[in-house]
Amino acid sequence: MSIRFLRPPTSGWVESQLEKPHIDFLWETIEKAKKKKLCHKDQLVGHLSNSFELKDEGDWFMRNVLCRNIDMFLESNYGKHPMRPYTLDTENIGISLGRMWVNYQYQTEFNPYHNHGGLYSFVIWMKIPYSCKEQRKIKLVQGMKEQDKKAGIFEFEYTDMLGQISNFPYHMEPELEGTMLFFPAGLKHCVYPFYECDEPRISISGNLYLGVIPPQSKIITDIHNQNNSNLIGDILNLKK
Ligand SMILES: [Fe+2]
Repeated sequence: MSIRFLRPPTSGWVESQLEKPHIDFLWETIEKAKKKKLCHKDQLVGHLSNSFELKDEGDWFMRNVLCRNIDMFLESNYGKHPMRPYTLDTENIGISLGRMWVNYQYQTEFNPYHNHGGLYSFVIWMKIPYSCKEQRKIKLVQGMKEQDKKAGIFEFEYTDMLGQISNFPYHMEPELEGTMLFFPAGLKHCVYPFYECDEPRISISGNLYLGVIPPQSKIITDIHNQNNSNLIGDILNLKK
């Protein structure tokens, strides 16, 4: 008997651990944003104390981090961006970092299920001041089933091949600081509130958009040539 299990193509997301130069750059960017105080709260559904817009000066983060994530997504996603094929008809399409922002979430605050605009989005956990293991012990959740305890969790939500709603939780711990998730902008996700901790949870997010390549754009990729996953680097001559 020949027997095998077939797993159809499906999408996913990219998880990475940023290195010190990346984290240093992001903290510097946050410090500059705190002085400018460009509020981002009107763009969010999150019930959060503060959110500021960030500027990727010199396209440094796009060049050194985001382009590699696009490459990794393409390599792992059968050479396809997370979008419908008919959007490939237009020539001279590129990908660029649109908005990037930093969120300050304090205890009891939350970011309900939502998705983002654009093609790709990302989140970077800069400061996680609590432990989900400890959050499971607080008085509020005593008596609950373990699988129902959500305090402090970041969670994706999607439908599986049977159309059933599925969840993929990240149980937040300080060890996850510096972790980045790079995912299709349409993938729903949320952040549950945490408790009994006075420090803020600090995260950075951003959206990458499809757009017409301006004549001298530095950040471009040719989405028509999806067989070449290193094309972004080739075009930009990026150091990887
Ligand atoms: Fe989000």
